[in-house]
Amino acid sequence: MSEPVLIGSGMTGGYGAADILHDCTIAVEKGRISVIVGPNGAGKSTAMKAVFGMLPLRQGAVRLDGHDITGLSPQDRVAQGMAFVPQTRNIFPSMTVEENLEMGAFLRRDDIAGTMEEVYHLFPILAEKRHQPTGELSGGQRQQVAVGRALMTRPRILMLDEPTAGVSPIVMDELFDRIIEVARTGISILMVEQNARQALEIADTGYVLVQGRNAYTGSGAELLADPEVRRSFLGG
Ligand SMILES: Nc1ncnc2c1ncn2[C@@H]1O[C@H](COP(=O)(O)OP(=O)(O)OP(=O)(O)O)[C@@H](O)[C@H]1O
Ligand SMILES: [Mg+2]
Repeated sequence: MSEPVLIGSGMTGGYGAADILHDCTIAVEKGRISVIVGPNGAGKSTAMKAVFGMLPLRQGAVRLDGHDITGLSPQDRVAQGMAFVPQTRNIFPSMTVEENLEMGAFLRRDDIAGTMEEVYHLFPILAEKRHQPTGELSGGQRQQVAVGRALMTRPRILMLDEPTAGVSPIVMDELFDRIIEVARTGISILMVEQNARQALEIADTGYVLVQGRNAYTGSGAELLADPEVRRSFLGG
């Protein structure tokens, strides 16, 4: 295993007095896919926020390329190559597809046309609907906009919190295929997923979080084969 490009290690913290995360460690290697699974309320989204700098840590650190970025704001992390698609409100529904993609690139000073073409190549339906308000799109298409918008920053690390929430199994498979395609270009993927079994099938590394703690960690294949993980988290 190579050194992770991004690691949140020993993360402890929460939103107020009580800690939500307890000594939680999450990492992703370059061009690989890491997946976080676990029950509702386990702290998956909180772990993502911690890695992205949206949650103050009482203990632990986040390192990018071996550099400590624990003190950096989310904006500074974007400038360092990180992009985050949150679980909710991840698009601007009244704006068109194209405007959403442009918003994604607002930090860039160079020509964004090439990146937009890449996004349209990855998600052809978005090219067709580029002038439609995003709120009129299907759930799966809106998730494509959210992912596309994140890609407009040309990130090295793409963080996705439940990218397949509320979409059909076919659309989910399709989205996972696109995510694999993105990883093959060298972009590292850190993703939370409710569709645990399917997500672990494409995961290089999987993390099962329970009550803010690492309960099981391994390759996707290892976790899928683990009888305890199967029984407790994958429905047998
Ligand atoms: N903004 C917040 N303020 C206070 N508590 C919060 C906040 N967001 C989440 N929590 C609490 O933190 C705990 C973990 O929530 P979190 O959203 O990280 O879980 P999750 O694993 O992402 O769940 P889900 O599968 O439902 O998305 C829960 O007890 C939740 O109530
Ligand atoms: Mg969540």
